[in-house]
Amino acid sequence: MSKKPIFQPNPEFSKTARIKNMDEYYALQNKAIEDYEVFWGGYAKEKLDWMEPFDTVLDESKFPFVQWFNGGKLNVSSQCIDRHLDTRGEKTAILFEGDRGDIQKITYNALSKNVNKFANLLKEDLGVTKGDRVVIYMPMIPEAAYAMLACARIGAIHSIVFGGFSSEALKDRIEDAQAKVVITADGAFRKTKPYMLKPVVDAAITKDSSIEKVLVVERNNEEVTWVEGRDVSYTALIKNKSDICEAEVMDAEDPLFLLYTSGSTGKPKGVQHNSAGYILWAQMTMEWVFDVKEEDTFWCTADVGWITGHTYIVYGPLAMGATTVMFEGVITYPDAGRPWKMVQEHKINQFYTAPTAIRVLHKMGENEPKNYDLSSLNVLGTVGEPIDPPAWKWYYEQVGNSTCAIVDTYWQTETGGHIISPLPGATPIKPACATFPVPGIMAEILDPKTGKKVANGESGYMCITRPWPSMIRGVWGDEERFITSYFGDVVKDGKPVYFTGDGANYDEDGYITITGRTDDVINVSGHRMGTAEVEAAIKKHNNVAEVAVVGKPHALKGEGIFAYVVLKSDSVEDEALEKKAINGVIKTEIGSIALCDAMVFVSGLPKTRSGKIMRRILRSIAKGEAITQDISTLEDPSVVAQISKMVNG
Ligand code: WT7
Repeated sequence: MSKKPIFQPNPEFSKTARIKNMDEYYALQNKAIEDYEVFWGGYAKEKLDWMEPFDTVLDESKFPFVQWFNGGKLNVSSQCIDRHLDTRGEKTAILFEGDRGDIQKITYNALSKNVNKFANLLKEDLGVTKGDRVVIYMPMIPEAAYAMLACARIGAIHSIVFGGFSSEALKDRIEDAQAKVVITADGAFRKTKPYMLKPVVDAAITKDSSIEKVLVVERNNEEVTWVEGRDVSYTALIKNKSDICEAEVMDAEDPLFLLYTSGSTGKPKGVQHNSAGYILWAQMTMEWVFDVKEEDTFWCTADVGWITGHTYIVYGPLAMGATTVMFEGVITYPDAGRPWKMVQEHKINQFYTAPTAIRVLHKMGENEPKNYDLSSLNVLGTVGEPIDPPAWKWYYEQVGNSTCAIVDTYWQTETGGHIISPLPGATPIKPACATFPVPGIMAEILDPKTGKKVANGESGYMCITRPWPSMIRGVWGDEERFITSYFGDVVKDGKPVYFTGDGANYDEDGYITITGRTDDVINVSGHRMGTAEVEAAIKKHNNVAEVAVVGKPHALKGEGIFAYVVLKSDSVEDEALEKKAINGVIKTEIGSIALCDAMVFVSGLPKTRSGKIMRRILRSIAKGEAITQDISTLEDPSVVAQISKMVNG
């Protein structure tokens, strides 16, 4: 490992930061180590408004099914709205910028009214009650946030499906959750073409669907088909709703939402997050990792369809009473200066995005940041995949003017909030390095064989050795899968520990660098994609006999999708056409986000005698590496040379 340069936190920033130096960091972390329950119980009391106090902090008796703050009652929408009304009712809660530059400033008072009306609509017109699942398939408009908070208010469990997923993917998620209602929009404004959502919903709801009603928010007013008795108009119904809706009294451990994510099988998992623990950590990481102050404006560019959008556009910022920016459009439209123009105009203080976006902005507009006044910025965040040093450098120097902290936040859908990250006023940062666990998080790199913490300079599996408040509570409808997915691989001191699926290393100073997935999950533009899921889609094409999908490094996306396909027919007339058709099936089954960057037709796949596909070999070939693995145990070693020749000449 080469020595990385170290950048000290900006002393001006540290002066007013919540955690000002590493001594304070270690003091906090030691407090958590010494008495975990006192640590978390203290913050739960201080940070949350309880309707009834909790009796116990952590119940691990049914580990890995754990419970936090049992006996406590609260409502997450009240945490995000009601408790701010006395002190900051007229403060902007959501600052919305549409694709075409239209702006809405929604105060906490207005947010309260909108969410209460929405909650009444869900109850009165759609028959939604506590515990029902509601699928949200929405563009990035304020109504998406209202929908989430309205569900939370009445105790319904939302499951947001990212707007880029196809009708088949949406259908699978609706079915798995047995959702009663879908909330969608006609479409949205994105670049020049209308971006439509309602037709996708229509295709996803077949006769035997659990869906009873579809609520359609009118955004772009494009014409859409209407199913009488099923589809209802938001504009028509919301007008007559009362803006008072009492918040449902929820148990600390009542489910708040499901969010489907990819794993190593073909079927996505419904990651379940519950109320109190999730909202506590969402708020605390806003305070510690972004150090957002009362007067600040915070912008996270994620989509609400991903966990980043849940925690750092809606729940975290609103729980702490911040101003959160929500952007409908595409950050490179009309040009790669768009985000910097927005930073200047809205005087944004913290900007949070993904490495893939940084690479695209760098490539398309290297000098664009210079054209704008970015002096309001103080913290820059990145998330979703390991950031490469050149992207980090440009972000630090050109966007951050070498004075902003960069927080490389490592976490995942299952962790609910940040797990490993620099703290902007305290941590001396190294480029492209997630650094240390956030206070309270017991994260360690373990040797998968011995379960022991690896030494500095060594690598292993990124694990979390104690439950934390915003930890995944289960995989919807599949207890067994929850246990085997996360607690099957690493055992420490005789006890299974949570394994993230990522590899990592400690450098000579004990800094953590995340190196990427150790399983068959690839990371395309910061989106998690199961190779098995893509393979299952490709297999639906009627001329496909066998397929193996691997990740291949990609300059902008981080990883691209590389498919090795064995066709049923001996030959095809037009290879390009056949590849297009196969990609077409992927688009229908999953969505454009899973399209293959490269595809080769091969005569066979490298398999062991027991029939297991040797993906490691396929990954090496895709990267153009020489094959150094022992291939003598393969069923037919000659396919390796054949494939390698096809791909690399
Ligand atoms: C996977 C989780 C967390 C919200 C966005 C993605 C990778 C995430 C980093 C980072 C290196 C990272 C991991 C992780 N990842 N952040 N800062 N450095 N890798 O959520 O879809 O659940 O994906 O993204 O591989 O396991 P997700």
